[in-house]
Amino acid sequence: SVQRPPLLSIGGVPLVKYFAENWGEVENFQARPDDLLISTYPKSGTTWISEVVDLIFHQGDVEKARRNPIYLRVPFLEFAVPDVPTGTELLRKMPPPRFIKTHLPVQLMPESFWTQGCKMIYVARNAKDVAVSYYFFYQMAKVHPDPGTWDEFLEKYIAGDISYGPWFDHVKGWWDKRHEQRMLYLFYEDMKEDPRREVRKVMEFLERPLDEQVLEKIVHHTSFKEMSQNQMANYKTIPTAVMDHDISPFMRKGITGDWKNYFTVAQNEHFDAEYERQMKGTDLCFRTEI
Ligand code: PPS
Repeated sequence: SVQRPPLLSIGGVPLVKYFAENWGEVENFQARPDDLLISTYPKSGTTWISEVVDLIFHQGDVEKARRNPIYLRVPFLEFAVPDVPTGTELLRKMPPPRFIKTHLPVQLMPESFWTQGCKMIYVARNAKDVAVSYYFFYQMAKVHPDPGTWDEFLEKYIAGDISYGPWFDHVKGWWDKRHEQRMLYLFYEDMKEDPRREVRKVMEFLERPLDEQVLEKIVHHTSFKEMSQNQMANYKTIPTAVMDHDISPFMRKGITGDWKNYFTVAQNEHFDAEYERQMKGTDLCFRTEI
């Protein structure tokens, strides 16, 4: 078992201990111009957008998208746990074009990503639904410390005392980079509202035009219902000692607004006050009420 080790700090950002111990490999990682980076704060729609991207590259061929679990099709840059290949190992062996998943905040990104000019897709999700999703993920994914009670976890989340640090800095940091890089900045809430529209945006950004029928097929295959039953997308192939789906499935609910079932009125007021303080002065807006 991976035993819930305490987080370790890299440049002031708390990270899963095993990831931090492999940091040298990540820092020196060489990006290439034909890489595609998929970047997110945890629990923001990474797996969803990854499946969309892989299908667009394979012209909607669902069988090709079943060739491997999602974490092998889109290796996780900073990933490292004992006894399995690390993200950087998988990526070094991967033929181009490589898809690369990361949750790193901008200030921790390996320098080569900024200089190689590769395309980047960032997906942001509203802070409250991320908090709830992350709380359940902390319980089921045992590389994380014990989250404690919901109230305890929420306090840590607001303080940024969780893996990858504060949500606020993450979404703002990537937002501020979007014009300097070839970046598509998407929102989970928009994908839920109109997946066709958002998948079309990704197709255009990747310069991979596909006809309406194929688009329709991709939207269907990447629905929450389909993906949660798809062994190559739902993380059920990960050993229980690392991710315990009986505690909480990786594909948990896949909806917006679930936070309303967890935040008390007092927690919500406290959160809103902190949100206001942290997000003051940015033109980055989230739709929390949908
Ligand atoms: S991770 O571990 O950070 O890479 O997780 P990530 O994939 O970013 O986020 C997991 C949450 O995304 C939901 N999900 C989806 N929602 C809608 N549609 C699709 N297809 C989909 N696939 C995954 C997943 O259920 C997690 O959210 P919650 O709110 O916990 O259900």
